[in-house]
Amino acid sequence: MARLVVLPSEADFAAWRSEARALIQADLTPEHVVWSVGSSTQSGDLFASAPSNIAAAPTSASAPFTVPARFLDLAPSVICHSEPERFALLYRLLWRLRADKHLMEVSSDPDVRLAETLAKAVRRDKHKMTAFVRFREVAADGGSVWIAWFEPQHHIVEATAPFFMRRFTGMTWSILTPRLSAHWNGTALSFTAGATRADAPTEDALEDHWRTYFASIFNPARLNTDAMQREMPKKYWKNMPETALIPDLVRSARERTRTMLANPPPMPRVTVADREAAMAKARVAAEASDNAITSLRALNALLDGCRRCPLYRDATQAVPGAGPRSAEIILIGEQPGDQEDLQGKPFVGPAGRLLDQALDAAGLPRTAVYVTNAVKHFKFEPRGKRRLHMKPNTAEIDACRWWLSHEIKLIRPKLIVALGATAASSLLQRPVKIGAERGQAIALPDGATGLITVHPSYLLRLPDAKVAEMERKRFIADLETAVHLARDLGASLEAA
Ligand code: URA
Repeated sequence: MARLVVLPSEADFAAWRSEARALIQADLTPEHVVWSVGSSTQSGDLFASAPSNIAAAPTSASAPFTVPARFLDLAPSVICHSEPERFALLYRLLWRLRADKHLMEVSSDPDVRLAETLAKAVRRDKHKMTAFVRFREVAADGGSVWIAWFEPQHHIVEATAPFFMRRFTGMTWSILTPRLSAHWNGTALSFTAGATRADAPTEDALEDHWRTYFASIFNPARLNTDAMQREMPKKYWKNMPETALIPDLVRSARERTRTMLANPPPMPRVTVADREAAMAKARVAAEASDNAITSLRALNALLDGCRRCPLYRDATQAVPGAGPRSAEIILIGEQPGDQEDLQGKPFVGPAGRLLDQALDAAGLPRTAVYVTNAVKHFKFEPRGKRRLHMKPNTAEIDACRWWLSHEIKLIRPKLIVALGATAASSLLQRPVKIGAERGQAIALPDGATGLITVHPSYLLRLPDAKVAEMERKRFIADLETAVHLARDLGASLEAA
């Protein structure tokens, strides 16, 4: 006999979580649970249909377990999807995570893949709502209220309303949607039933301002109608005043581009070359006197002006290290990847996620360590729209060691963990074979201790799942060695 669980609303993650926790404690398999959304009278019956076989004492499987951060990242988004099976999917994942705490890393698993797809669709829908909601002014007692009509694909109104509350705090507004409407009265958010398009106004005096603004930011030289429709799908156009202009703007784009080219703007007074020269001067002055740099902040202020090797030319930005100045352990990676280059932070992409999980498993909080790279700019080869990682060469690693050694000098860690061959050879200033030297304490000239292990990206590239799992465990074991070494050296492992 299956158990019926009735959630109070479509996107109530807290309610789902508390029901799921109770079901796990009752050791109830996913096949025995039917999820639905309904009124509170129905949820009064919750557990009334409990099958007798689950009344048995909880087994060891129902002991408390830690839910990985990746699941907690995805689940609140998945809950907002309009797919009716989403509650069951999440419960199935939760159930399976008890036996396999690394399940969320297996991106080929159908449940994991589906959860990721649903979460992505919800994120996209939320983004569209924040970009395409257009309020119209309506006169009301004592002032104006602002009303918008929007048709989201998923149950995102509650999750997205706080964005509008922060952005339009000083206005009284309502966003009407078919399933749920959100209201802000200047002090509190509230939600009421869905509405129809006819409940929302269609024109107001501001429409002209919107159109003028849109026409002024439209750059005919950059017109790409495919990209425009991908970013602003036509189904949203009907609620957006500016979209009426699009056909005309597209038609006249070529002529306007020609005019723009024939009338170039006056040269800016401060050129890129001027700025580069000023930065180079500051860098040369600072580099001439190593001791002039007394803080990470001062070091990082110079980093983006680095021209020590040609890698700066194609990268978005230099990526500094991250972590507390008081850290007693430094982790060194190779170089920023695609995500790191865009976000300006180390280890925030797939390798970073794997690193976080391994650190977690080894009992070393990421917030207690300083994480950086041997090379500070992303080296890549463009392939269509993708940027494929390329290994930095010896000259680039040597050129970038200036930055790394300053980081080490300023932080003065007790332990330095090199992730992969590039980091190890930069640290030891000689070629390193990971297989021969990993997992051992190495005395460094400045008194710190070094330890070498593999780079997390190496684990992501292994094609054989069994080998990958074995290597992942070896990686965690190396990090555990790092934890023991750090303890013996008297280093603090406390999160900052
Ligand atoms: N790989 C690295 O070595 N460093 C990063 O920051 C990200 C991926």
